[in-house]
Amino acid sequence: MSKTTKLWGGRFQERTNPDVESFTASVAFDRRLYAFDIAGSIAHAQMLHEIGILSEEERSAIVTNLQHILGEIEQDRFDWSDELEDVHMNIEQRLTDLIGDAGKKLHTGRSRNDQVAVDLRLFTRSAINIIIEGVIEFQETLLERAESEHATVMPGYTHLQVAQPITFGHHLMAWFEMLDRDRLRFLDAARRLNQNPLGAAALAGTSIPIDRQMTTDALGFDDMCRNSLDAVSDRDFLMEVCAAIAITMVHLSRFADEMILWSSDAFGFVQFSDEYTTGSSIMPQKKNPDVAELVRGKSARTTGNLQALLVLMKAQPLAYNRDNQEDKETFFDSIDTVTDCLHIMQKLVENMSVDQENMRRALDGSFSTATDLTEFLVKQHVPFREAHEIVGRIVRSCLDSNTTLENLSLEQLNEFSPAFSQAALELIRPENSVASRDHPGGTAPKQVLSAVQKGRQRLEQAWSEL
Ligand code: ARG
Repeated sequence: MSKTTKLWGGRFQERTNPDVESFTASVAFDRRLYAFDIAGSIAHAQMLHEIGILSEEERSAIVTNLQHILGEIEQDRFDWSDELEDVHMNIEQRLTDLIGDAGKKLHTGRSRNDQVAVDLRLFTRSAINIIIEGVIEFQETLLERAESEHATVMPGYTHLQVAQPITFGHHLMAWFEMLDRDRLRFLDAARRLNQNPLGAAALAGTSIPIDRQMTTDALGFDDMCRNSLDAVSDRDFLMEVCAAIAITMVHLSRFADEMILWSSDAFGFVQFSDEYTTGSSIMPQKKNPDVAELVRGKSARTTGNLQALLVLMKAQPLAYNRDNQEDKETFFDSIDTVTDCLHIMQKLVENMSVDQENMRRALDGSFSTATDLTEFLVKQHVPFREAHEIVGRIVRSCLDSNTTLENLSLEQLNEFSPAFSQAALELIRPENSVASRDHPGGTAPKQVLSAVQKGRQRLEQAWSEL
């Protein structure tokens, strides 16, 4: 391509060095924005017609041919060129090749700086929708499983030591809550980013009498960006979404980590279906939780992508700088990673089997109901610290005589405190322990069912808001 055919070639006397051309080109990755670039251009062209810059023929040629180009790209018939740098100039050049001079009018009152900003906001808005759908679908699976496991008793852990009995349904509903916050973070980011940067042009706005409200409405923005310098330089929305993704991925990584532990021989709480596991090339007996391990591993890159974006932005003076071109690959990677991981984790949970007996057995001899005994005494008006001390001595004596709480008789309990009665023995059973935690947010099967019920209502609402 000669220097004069560059869209910005006028002031140049020599052609661009090919090294610079390939160094600065972004089309290899920003072509992914094509549909949004075309939507933005169509809205801009309609507006230019309304304000008298484009004739009806020009407007119609531009719109029809942009749609034609969209088809070419979608059918993989579009000839992308590095020499034209980016998605914006590739499409604009193709338009001019197709319709001549009318195409050259499209960029009136616009710059690639507000153009890329509008493309990115539209892309992000649609990507967030897809992510939220993935979150909700995973939440639905968790609700299903929590409902069927509402009365499955298992150990709850702190410090990865058996702490107190819980229901597996309650544990799954904790994951549900984590995802619910993720969902709200994405929604919140989507609301804030829905502002139109078009009209900011390069940085200072334009002397062309543009109608920003028109493009704002046409592109479904709630509002327009209020400051032209901010409009072209702001990438907060990318940082926010990357942060929301990094947090979601940390959650998925934690779920994955628990599933890896639980599926191990040491725990034996769950089993993945063959479909969602892989084998070993040397050890014939192995069935490995590679899917969960990869989810845990992939959370590293989304944390890294967030870091990259934060550092990318931190020393940029206003307004647009080419540094910003570096925002896309990391951002796209985060979007793809979280979308894939949400889907695969949902499938993994949907298809895993639960070994309720192993879960229950893991509580045997674990002293997991020591706190229930303490609270029993408290209800008999023994001061809490004293009750704690008494039950501590009971545990010590069990350990010394190699027995467990389940084997104690009422007489033995009364040796430590006369306040114990038959009802205390009942509480030692994990099933009774969980049933007694019967308050909102508690682990009682009844409460799990009610949490599932409320969860369903929230998701119904969530679908309707999409
Ligand atoms: N490819 C560029 C980017 O991603 C588009 C904007 C270029 N603007 C410019 N003044 N060079 O940011």
